[in-house]
Amino acid sequence: MNYHSFILLILVFVINLEICFTKTHYPNITCSENDQKALIEFKNGLIDNTNRLSSWTGQDCCKYDGIYCDEKTGNVVKIDLHYNNYLLDADIIPQKVLDNQVKNFLGGELSPSLVRLKHLSYLDLSYNYFASIQIPKFFGLLRNLRFLNVSCSGFGGYIPHSLGNLSRLEHLYLGGCYSNVLGPENEFKVDSFSWISRLSSLKSIDLSKFVLVDSKDLWNSINMLPSLLSLNLEGCNLVTLPYFTQVNFTSLSSFNIRDNAIRMNSENPSIVPPWFCNLTRLMNLDLGQNYFDDSISVFEKLSSLRVLDVSGNGFGDSLLSSLSKLNNLVYLDLLGNDIHFTNLCLLGNLTSLSVLKLRYNELKGPVPEALTSIFCRLSVLDLSDNEKISGLLPSFIRNPSSCIENRLKELYIGNTKFDDFFPEGMSMHENLEVIDSTNSLLYGEIPNSIGRLSNLRFLRLANNKLNGRIPSSIGQLSNLEELDISKNLFTGIVSELHFAKLNKLKKLYLSENLILNVSSNWYPPFRVKEIGITSVKVGPRFPQWLRKQSILEILIMSDANITDMIPNWLSNATLFMTTLDLSVNKLVGGIGVLCDAQLLHSIDLSKNLLSGRIPSCLSNLEELRSLNLADNSLEGEIPCSLGDLPLSFLHLQKNNLQGKIPSSLQNLTSLQRLDLGENKLKDVFPTWIGEKLQSLELLRLNSNQFYGVIPLELCQISSLCWLNLAGNNLYGTIPRCFSNFSCMSSGVMYGPGEVFGQRVESFMKGIPLEYVGEQILLLRILDLSENELVGRIPNELTKLVDLQYLNLSRNNLNGSIPKKLGYLKHLESLDLSHNKLSGSIPQSLASLNYLSYMNLSYNDFSGPIPTGNQLQSLDDQSFYVGNPRLCGKLIKKSCNDNGSSNVSEQIPQGDHQDNDDDGDERKWFYAGIGPGFCVGFLGFLFILYELRNRGVTRVFQCWA
Ligand SMILES: *[C@@H]1O[C@H](CO)[C@@H](O)[C@H](O)[C@H]1NC(C)=O
Ligand SMILES: *[C@@H]1O[C@H](CO)[C@@H](O)[C@H](O)[C@H]1NC(C)=O
Ligand SMILES: *[C@@H]1O[C@H](CO)[C@@H](O)[C@H](O)[C@H]1NC(C)=O
Ligand SMILES: *[C@@H]1O[C@H](CO)[C@@H](O)[C@H](O)[C@H]1NC(C)=O
Repeated sequence: MNYHSFILLILVFVINLEICFTKTHYPNITCSENDQKALIEFKNGLIDNTNRLSSWTGQDCCKYDGIYCDEKTGNVVKIDLHYNNYLLDADIIPQKVLDNQVKNFLGGELSPSLVRLKHLSYLDLSYNYFASIQIPKFFGLLRNLRFLNVSCSGFGGYIPHSLGNLSRLEHLYLGGCYSNVLGPENEFKVDSFSWISRLSSLKSIDLSKFVLVDSKDLWNSINMLPSLLSLNLEGCNLVTLPYFTQVNFTSLSSFNIRDNAIRMNSENPSIVPPWFCNLTRLMNLDLGQNYFDDSISVFEKLSSLRVLDVSGNGFGDSLLSSLSKLNNLVYLDLLGNDIHFTNLCLLGNLTSLSVLKLRYNELKGPVPEALTSIFCRLSVLDLSDNEKISGLLPSFIRNPSSCIENRLKELYIGNTKFDDFFPEGMSMHENLEVIDSTNSLLYGEIPNSIGRLSNLRFLRLANNKLNGRIPSSIGQLSNLEELDISKNLFTGIVSELHFAKLNKLKKLYLSENLILNVSSNWYPPFRVKEIGITSVKVGPRFPQWLRKQSILEILIMSDANITDMIPNWLSNATLFMTTLDLSVNKLVGGIGVLCDAQLLHSIDLSKNLLSGRIPSCLSNLEELRSLNLADNSLEGEIPCSLGDLPLSFLHLQKNNLQGKIPSSLQNLTSLQRLDLGENKLKDVFPTWIGEKLQSLELLRLNSNQFYGVIPLELCQISSLCWLNLAGNNLYGTIPRCFSNFSCMSSGVMYGPGEVFGQRVESFMKGIPLEYVGEQILLLRILDLSENELVGRIPNELTKLVDLQYLNLSRNNLNGSIPKKLGYLKHLESLDLSHNKLSGSIPQSLASLNYLSYMNLSYNDFSGPIPTGNQLQSLDDQSFYVGNPRLCGKLIKKSCNDNGSSNVSEQIPQGDHQDNDDDGDERKWFYAGIGPGFCVGFLGFLFILYELRNRGVTRVFQCWA
């Protein structure tokens, strides 16, 4: 069962119960003293941190929250203390919110005084946390109990067999938590299930998330419950189903064995249990997330089925024929199987079918016209994530009159290749609540008639090719909760009209290049959780309409033309805010206001005009994982307090920061990216970086005033993919142990890890490129240029075979180029200029197929410039100037017979640290012939292409 249907089920469950037990108080009934005292004793045993039971005072216990009395007798019949937490509904739960929630859970001890409530028939303690205590044995004495729910409430230990004495029990819920944020999953131990067989009135039992080592005993007990209607064994580690000679629970109407590892396939046909076919009253069957395939053919017999979920198995088209006579089927979830379009028409006689989910199957090509009659009956059609679907939208969408009746409520066609204009006909499906076409190829304009879809709740059109203006009729969709039209080609203005009646909106994502034009005193009718508008003109003032957005979680207003201070009131809006991205604007002033935004996980204020110091109170932001303040005018020292944060990403490059790197930063042991480049930091190169920050993937300290030798400790960071120390005053030699950087040498990709939209610039091929987010993970860079390094280029560098960019220019390096430099086969840019290197240029460089920039100028190289392959296309003389002893066609200086320049008198003996013979050189030469010549530029294109495929909008920007 997926997350949402789970929530739905819980809701249905809760609602149903509430209907049965509405709390009405008759003035003429009060509870007995006996019941009242028993409840107070029960309360005294509980831990109730947040006073949920504050109403439990006074004589009339029928007025206590969670207590329900019989209307006629006044006896307490029901205790409902389940906690209605919203944690289950959240994707990311900040620790603080979680801690706050946990406080609300009841815990402590359960007083046996409950036994004195002689008429208690209903007890619900679910979703609390009783810290692994056992379910009390005395529960077995609650003789009138018909309903017991202790799901997900932190009980542990052995389940008391005394529960088997509850001969009137009809509903027993012992399931584990769906989400383990509430603590450990079900911790029950089971010695035996035989007590279950004594629950002769049992109608429903939920043992989900039980880790069943041996299920035989359980099944035998269950087979003694002929009145059982509902059995839930979701997520119980089952690997087989049992074999019964006779099945007794044939009344079963709902059966859930989702999310186990059950196999009943051709490899193991003997375990297809015949009793399954005898469950002829089954209405609701969930076999999802197991290993079933077409070799099971029980469905034909299950003629009562209304809801069938077989998602996440290995069924093929023959499943469809075994379903073709299930006339009662209403809901069919086939997600994640191997179904094709061709045989779907076998569902043609299922006249009740209303929900059909076909995500992640083998649907290919255009939708067959023959399916129209099936589709016309549906209220939910999900074709998404079938990336090989192409052609026009299903005809019934474009042309609703092809259906007798328009029933469609939810349409999911995301991640397909439907290549069609957004049809006017869509607006005629007046029941539509969901249109989800994220990542498809829809084009054209959104028709004005869309305003007619008054039931629409979700309009998700991100990443299509839609254009034109956004019709203002969108503002009439008063039920809209989510509007995502980002990554399209829309133009024009979005005004107040576009939001006129959107008072239920929770998520708002607009497309690049739109202009948001609202009056300065406009307050939107909505309170949203997420705003994502990148490259939409919002400024110049900081949008005042955000002022009352008090439940914001994500605010992205990057490149929005805002020229203003960060307003003080933003900290009021940040109570739940986890993500704040105001990068690429013209924000001025300080950032102290952020210190109150305690739940922020990610801050990106890069590329603004912010000034002043980095406030040390930022350490209040205890959840902060990513801080990007790059490219502003911040000054002063880096505050020590940053070392208290759980940072993974810290980007402070391109500011005016001074002083030393605070040694407290060595506490940031999970730091993956540290960029302090282009500041005015002055410090000896800290050894603790290598000793403590061993998760670093990116380290940039370039263009500062760091001095001293490069410490060998740096080599301990084997995960380093990107090291830039250029433009400092480092001296000494290049450590040979750089070969330890396995990210640069082994082809192992580190990450992707968490990516919070940080942005790093690199300088490749003399063109500064800007990379966003995950793209960084593709790069392998070593830049030590503009320092005072001496000695030879260590041969060990040739082990960094994944390097794409190597810059050692503007140092005092001597000796010759390691002959095996040609091993760096991914190299795209090589700069060794402005050193004192000598000897010949190794022929192996000619085999660097991706090389598109090479600069060897201003050294003391001699002999012929190697030719052929890739080097042929790098025919720029300036790459070689300042080496008077070089010769070759390119620089129009002919070489004499022994290969040296005819200007030169002396043939340098070159490098002796490297004993490659000429044969080796020749091998390099021939290896490169063929692919070499043309691949270079293609390599560059390939990288761009790869980056674009990562799906981030701003792939890079060239800044001339
Ligand atoms: C209390 O009043 C309600 C409705 O007025 C009635 O149905 C019920 O029987 C009464 N109960 C007792 C205990 O008198
Ligand atoms: C249920 O079936 C089993 C055989 O699997 C049989 O031995 C047993 O008597 C039956 N129990 C009841 C309660 O019907
Ligand atoms: C299934 O039902 C058939 C006919 O009602 C019966 O003969 C058979 O024994 C049953 N199988 C099991 C395993 O209960
Ligand atoms: C649908 O029902 C008709 C009439 O009973 C029958 O002829 C046809 O074969 C059925 N189609 C399928 C796919 O089962």
